[in-house]
Amino acid sequence: MALVLALSDLQMTSSFQFQEWLQRHSARAEQALDVLLDPVQTEPVRLHTAMRYAAQGGGKRIRPLLVYAAGQLGNPQEAALDAAAAAIECIHAYSLVHDDLPCMDDDDLRRGRPTLHKAFDEATALLVGDALQTRAFEILAGANCDADIRLSLISVLAAASGSRGMAGGQAIDLESVGKKLNLELLKQMHAMKTGALLSCAVEMGGIAACLNFSQMESLTTYSQALGLAFQIVDDVLDATVDSQTLGKTAGKDAANDKPTYVTLMGLDYAQKQARQLQDEAIASLEGFGSKGQALKDLALLVVNRGK
Ligand code: IPE
Ligand code: IPE
Ligand code: MG
Ligand code: MG
Ligand code: MG
Repeated sequence: MALVLALSDLQMTSSFQFQEWLQRHSARAEQALDVLLDPVQTEPVRLHTAMRYAAQGGGKRIRPLLVYAAGQLGNPQEAALDAAAAAIECIHAYSLVHDDLPCMDDDDLRRGRPTLHKAFDEATALLVGDALQTRAFEILAGANCDADIRLSLISVLAAASGSRGMAGGQAIDLESVGKKLNLELLKQMHAMKTGALLSCAVEMGGIAACLNFSQMESLTTYSQALGLAFQIVDDVLDATVDSQTLGKTAGKDAANDKPTYVTLMGLDYAQKQARQLQDEAIASLEGFGSKGQALKDLALLVVNRGK
């Protein structure tokens, strides 16, 4: 199954030690989400059931994993890491629910199950997005950590989610349907709609670990390269892998006439570019020594998944 990270993905990229790290931190992310989302019995029951449907039951949890991996570069406040991991996954889950709506990508399959508006209804999908987004900030505001860390986490997640980040990138995506973007604009769209949240995950880990300015700068180089690589790989998989393996509708970008790395630059170029970005990301971690191993392994995993 591609919904979680497949064993073959792990075997090709990594050591037994990383597999163990991945299992431990995936479980930690699931646990943080489970604790920090309202129980389904909370009124209104249908909305809270739908919020859990969106946020749980599948997903690679790449953003929480990046939070934890960046966090271990320093001495993190553990409660800040768990809050950041859960909060960013809430924002990501909301972005997927809205991305799948008929007014956006109009998709009916997500993480191997019916999309939220198919399993529930469109109005619920809108409200799930609204409520997951505000829950994310409530989680951060309530994190049991230093107040300056709490404030920084709220601030970077808000910026990455909004009109200069994910939501802005989604706006460019919708405006670009049927158009032939130039490479610069395509990169900008990818950096915003996908890169912003991935970079934010890494940054939040660094904030929780109280890293210094130059360490944060190295992380920015890492996460910008990884963010772009992530969406390029998503575009490649959309064009090359079947729906069952993907857990979402294959060939959707072409069907929706979306400009992507594959449609604009071709499959070969896209794959080479992803590999180059992977190398750039890994090279930027040099100064962290062995503490950067989990971030390095995650970069390899992201770029080589599905192969
Ligand atoms: C899918 O993200 C949407 C993009 C930003 C490309 P993921 O590939 O991380 O989706 P899940 O969380 O694993 O389902
Ligand atoms: C979506 O990009 C990025 C988001 C902000 C959700 P895609 O539209 O390519 O994501 P998938 O392929 O549906 O997961
Ligand atoms: Mg989309
Ligand atoms: Mg989509
Ligand atoms: Mg896609």
